[in-house]
Amino acid sequence: MLFGLQIQPIYIVASGGLLGALLVFQILQGTRKIKFKGRTHMRVHKATAWSMLALGLVHGAMALSYFYPQLFL
Ligand code: HEM
Repeated sequence: MLFGLQIQPIYIVASGGLLGALLVFQILQGTRKIKFKGRTHMRVHKATAWSMLALGLVHGAMALSYFYPQLFL
């Protein structure tokens, strides 16, 4: 239970999958295989990095609450 939400394993798998996809996007963008014009390029790279940090924390918190529910009681 995390903020009143019962965590299903699929949430952990889905957020992990999304994180993996974002990582691939960052790598492609960082190596400029995917490009954006001008300042937008760094802005997108930076915004994606912050989203990955936020999603990583959610992913970790969900995994902890699923595998170690006693930590959250
Ligand atoms: C092989 C993969 C990657 C390459 C080649 C790459 C390349 C770059 C380059 C060239 C910069 C600009 C550095 C500068 O001149 O200031 C940069 C900045 C940055 N990258 Fe990446 N990147 C990669 C993956 C990632 C990933 C996976 C993340 C985070 C999840 C990330 C987050 C950032 C951040 C936060 C910055 C700093 C942005 C800023 O200056 O405000 N990068 N990256």
